[in-house]
Amino acid sequence: MNENLRPALDTIRNGGRVAVLTGAGISAESGIPTFRGQDGYWTVGSREYHPQELATWAMFSRHPERVWPWYLYRRSICANAQPNVGHDALVRLEKHLRDRFTLITQNVDGLHIRAGNSLERTYEIHGNLHRRRCAESCCPEQWAIPEGVSTPKRNGTLANDDPALLRCPRCDAWTRPHVLWFDECYDEEKYRYESSLNVAVQADLLIVVGTSGATNLPMQVGAIAARRGAAIIDINPTENPFSQLAQRIPSGVVLTGSAGTILPTLVDHLIHGSDDA
Ligand code: OAD
Repeated sequence: MNENLRPALDTIRNGGRVAVLTGAGISAESGIPTFRGQDGYWTVGSREYHPQELATWAMFSRHPERVWPWYLYRRSICANAQPNVGHDALVRLEKHLRDRFTLITQNVDGLHIRAGNSLERTYEIHGNLHRRRCAESCCPEQWAIPEGVSTPKRNGTLANDDPALLRCPRCDAWTRPHVLWFDECYDEEKYRYESSLNVAVQADLLIVVGTSGATNLPMQVGAIAARRGAAIIDINPTENPFSQLAQRIPSGVVLTGSAGTILPTLVDHLIHGSDDA
């Protein structure tokens, strides 16, 4: 075992709290493109719009029929993907730690929940593209994407019946994908903003997996955890702001490589290492 992991093992053995923060990298080995990698959604772009323009309330409010196909296309990729060994490892960690475990994920693919992490302990801070809500906020409810909605190809369009199927069941306005857009803010009700900050305050160990650290709330979580003296482990094939943060603190560990290779072994160490001691 890497001796540098001692603070993490001690944390678990002593009843400490563990926060795990995941990004697109953990789902890369399930075949879901990341955002900023070579084939990433933000890198490749779509035919008429740069995706960063599509992923906005400004665009949806003018052209919902153009924004929906892109999310339905991405949803089909996620629906066809399977959770991988990295996701499975986090299910084992939650089973071991129970209410001492919280998973904060930026991923909208729903794979953590499908793998078996609980809804209660998984904060989907950027939403989930398998769900939709009223675009006019007539109510807080969320619904699944209805049966019968088409699956557009990349840069495809909605089928004729789709707009009616994608109406709000309550007020008949458009529904929208339950995802946080670039021109929107985090909040507690939909995206667990304050809860995530609280988790950072209470964490004794923060494990960061597969994120480039380009969004605001995850960076705050990392900064708070570091300031409060938590141990930090970063798992990523490339250097990123969290690996730099981990390098700056005494109980930080950088594990360079893919989530699927590193996370199962790390979780074994954390569970069995703390049992053995
Ligand atoms: P990015 O695409 O920005 O970064 C993916 C990270 O995963 C990079 O640091 C890669 O090095 C790393 N990575 C790639 N393959 C990996 C593997 N097999 N194992 C571990 N790590 C791997 O994706 P995110 O950081 O998740 O927000 O992006 C954050 C947010 O930016 C997204 O949630 C999305 C986007 O705008 C919204 O849509 C609101």
